[in-house]
Amino acid sequence: MAGLKVNNVSMLYQVPKGDPVEALKEVSFTLEEGEFLTVLGPSGCGKTTLLDILAGFLEATGGDASFNGKPINGPSPQRGMVFQQAALFEWMSVEKNVGFGPRMAGVPKKEIQEKTQHWLDVVGLSDFGSKAVYELSGGMQQRVALARCLANDPELILMDEPLGALDALTREKMQGLLLKLWKETGKTIVLITHSVEEALMLGERLFVMAPRPGRIEKEYRLPFAAQGVTGNSREIKAQSDFIAVREEILSIIWGMEEEIMGRKGEVL
Ligand SMILES: Nc1ncnc2c1ncn2[C@@H]1O[C@H](COP(=O)(O)OP(=O)(O)OP(=O)(O)O)[C@@H](O)[C@H]1O
Ligand SMILES: [Mg+2]
Repeated sequence: MAGLKVNNVSMLYQVPKGDPVEALKEVSFTLEEGEFLTVLGPSGCGKTTLLDILAGFLEATGGDASFNGKPINGPSPQRGMVFQQAALFEWMSVEKNVGFGPRMAGVPKKEIQEKTQHWLDVVGLSDFGSKAVYELSGGMQQRVALARCLANDPELILMDEPLGALDALTREKMQGLLLKLWKETGKTIVLITHSVEEALMLGERLFVMAPRPGRIEKEYRLPFAAQGVTGNSREIKAQSDFIAVREEILSIIWGMEEEIMGRKGEVL
């Protein structure tokens, strides 16, 4: 029963005037424990909807999902979430942010301090614990968000474009950090991104989703994340097999975008 099981999950949003939106239609997949899945697809194909259902923030209108045998029917510390904007508690120090979950769970003070220090070390922010959130750069805030998520020791980590707001160099460094964390913690990770390169570099599995209705259009199993744990990501991205899959996925997504634009054009 281990791992993530998603069984015929559908999401129909009711709209006040007009037809309901079929954000997801009978999406099914399984993810083994410890796998890293990335999800790509044009805007509106249901990526956030899927993640919100897996987080338990949103109740699917059809189907069901479970993680490690436990049904997903609400938020749980078993599942941690990282958003595009760090969504940190602005009024708390960095260490108070990281220790928030354990504090809420009633973990003894000394243990909270140890956990906080450990995760701040892992994300390279051990000297910043007493800083206020607003004193940090965007990349540093995202690292605090990751540390805060990891301090809860979730079994499944869900990330919705966590690196989307970062500059290119910081983003590349954060990709390396995510691979290192994945390798060291063995966590199961689902990460949504708009960047094809990022999806290829991080996901040992990759889904390309399509819109209307939202669904999984194509699935890949990839060697690059495993290579990237120890290897140089620049060299991996220059490999001919990496470039070949990148171009294939780009043309699939461009095809979808063109279809979406074409339909809009018809309406106008
Ligand atoms: N609360 C809502 N009510 C009605 N429709 C919604 C709601 N949330 C999302 N939708 C619609 O559901 C579809 C999927 O939205 P979703 O946010 O999951 O897409 P996405 O793939 O995350 O897009 P993006 O890449 O822009 O973040 C879209 O057509 C969107 O307009
Ligand atoms: Mg989204």
